[in-house]
Amino acid sequence: MTDDPFAHLHDDPFAHLHDESYADAYGTRLLGHAGLVTVAGRAGVSLDGNWRFTPDLFDEGLRQRWYADIPLPPPDWPAPRDHDPDGAETIAVPSCWTMARPAWRHFEGAGWYDRDLDWDGSGERIVLRVGAANYQALVFLNGVFLGAHKGGSTPFCAELTRHLVPGRNRLKIQVDNRRRPDRVPMHHFDWFNHGGIYREVTLLHLPAVFIADFGISLAPSGRIVCDIALSDPLDGTAVVSVPELGLSVDVPVVQGRGRTEFEAAVQRWWPESPRLYDVRASFGADTVADRVGFRTIAVQGHDIMLNGRSVYLRGVCVHEDDLDLGKCVDEADVRRRFAHARALGANFLRLAHYPHHDMVARIADEEGLMLWAEVPVYWAIDFANPETYADAENQLLELVRRDRNRASVVIWGVGNENADTNSRYVFMSRLAEAAKRADPTRLVSAACLINRKTFAIEDRLASHLDVIGLNEYFGWYERDFAGLERLLANSNPDRPVVVSEVGADALAGHHGRADELFTEECQAEIYRRQLEIVATAPWLRGFVAWLLYDFRSERRQTRFQRGFNRKGLIAEDKATKKLAFGVLAERYAAIAAGEIHERHIITKGTTG
Ligand code: GCU
Repeated sequence: MTDDPFAHLHDDPFAHLHDESYADAYGTRLLGHAGLVTVAGRAGVSLDGNWRFTPDLFDEGLRQRWYADIPLPPPDWPAPRDHDPDGAETIAVPSCWTMARPAWRHFEGAGWYDRDLDWDGSGERIVLRVGAANYQALVFLNGVFLGAHKGGSTPFCAELTRHLVPGRNRLKIQVDNRRRPDRVPMHHFDWFNHGGIYREVTLLHLPAVFIADFGISLAPSGRIVCDIALSDPLDGTAVVSVPELGLSVDVPVVQGRGRTEFEAAVQRWWPESPRLYDVRASFGADTVADRVGFRTIAVQGHDIMLNGRSVYLRGVCVHEDDLDLGKCVDEADVRRRFAHARALGANFLRLAHYPHHDMVARIADEEGLMLWAEVPVYWAIDFANPETYADAENQLLELVRRDRNRASVVIWGVGNENADTNSRYVFMSRLAEAAKRADPTRLVSAACLINRKTFAIEDRLASHLDVIGLNEYFGWYERDFAGLERLLANSNPDRPVVVSEVGADALAGHHGRADELFTEECQAEIYRRQLEIVATAPWLRGFVAWLLYDFRSERRQTRFQRGFNRKGLIAEDKATKKLAFGVLAERYAAIAAGEIHERHIITKGTTG
């Protein structure tokens, strides 16, 4: 792609109208997991604030090369154009453009973010980190295309160093939130399609050689294992220290990679006592720091073993959706959802259906809540498409790389409710194995569907999963509970099963008989019956309600829903509890009491 952005203007000012291959040049230079830089303990310079913003429904920006500025005011331009960044509106970063203006609520297209970037020449290497932009982001600096990121909920980095000039620079990011059949998720899903740069943007000033990735965890052996990856393939010695333990360990680094393990008398991380340690890693002029909990998670027969003790996951699902913030979250929003989960008696949250903000796992580490984190391989993904697989695997590896030091994350979820076809089996078994290779310290699961032929929990993907997730809605989508009893009687899984979704819609404040759909009484009765029946299956080691709060979904248009999925135990105001909240809280309290009372391996068949 020529760096002369006006070449097309010199020869034929109309050429761009006839060039339908205009986007091809931007499918290269992918900014993926391999380019991520750990931000643990790094200050960084925030680029949050008002950026200039131009909506671009027809991709004119790529067709007309808006990324290259004309350093003259419009009246002096050599020819007219349709982009005038200095005269553009502004938008807050981070935010969702779908929340910024009523006219942009359902905007699905491209949006051009633009800002000045002053550089005083300090710092040997300058790296841009974007927390998340939905769905695809193209990064341009001073008219040069630096790379493309796919995936609406994971961070990405772009090194700016080579293209920065001392003084004023021009940074542009084109974000495209279009739903497409080949994306992950594809164009059909049950949440709101927000758009924009909706997590923080940071500039990292780094030394010539820096620590790109740092991991530390407790191995099943009880020893601490740590690994380091440098920005460059150099040899040397890194130092990992845990001051509270009086430990400082040399880590030999060869060709930019180092790994070591050592004994340490750590207090383990438990939900009821979430012990965290300050850890540091240094190499040359670079140091990163983190606060880490040490625990092990494994499966043993039908049990999920946290630090060698069987746990029952008392869970609830959550989306990132807020009446005011859209898909953005702030600390207050995260702490409120955890407070509600605690009030429910939950010890586990499923972060549906995409990677949530990185502060969620950090706060869960402190609060002692276990998490299932997942990638949006949701419903009818284009499983036969190799580029779609590469996109899904990259999002997964970005999630693992971002949250690998979070004790609270115990399960990586690789998919949700995917019909069992051969292409799906190939795609998802490959993805599950990729998760295990990337992170052998955690469990891998997926929210699977019932096998309708055998009416049992039988999914060939299960042989690649540590824990089988089961989405079932008996009482709601299938009104007869006899189906649930039949399903459990027909099933004989060889590993733990967790009900990864269960629930029913209810409009808060709408009351009636327990057999009237959309009433609070109906939702409560469904939970009551569900909890009774699932308690009979000893291999069921978790129950994860769908879900904590009502959330936006354009698919839901009855008089009770009006664009909201109403399966929340609490309304979308994140305050009004429904009757079902109390039903589930009572049951979770009984289960927790059993755990606290017994304090040993929970015998099978109990509800604990
Ligand atoms: C499905 C799906 C959810 C959806 C829920 C529902 O199981 O996984 O994303 O919101 O059912 O129908 O409410």
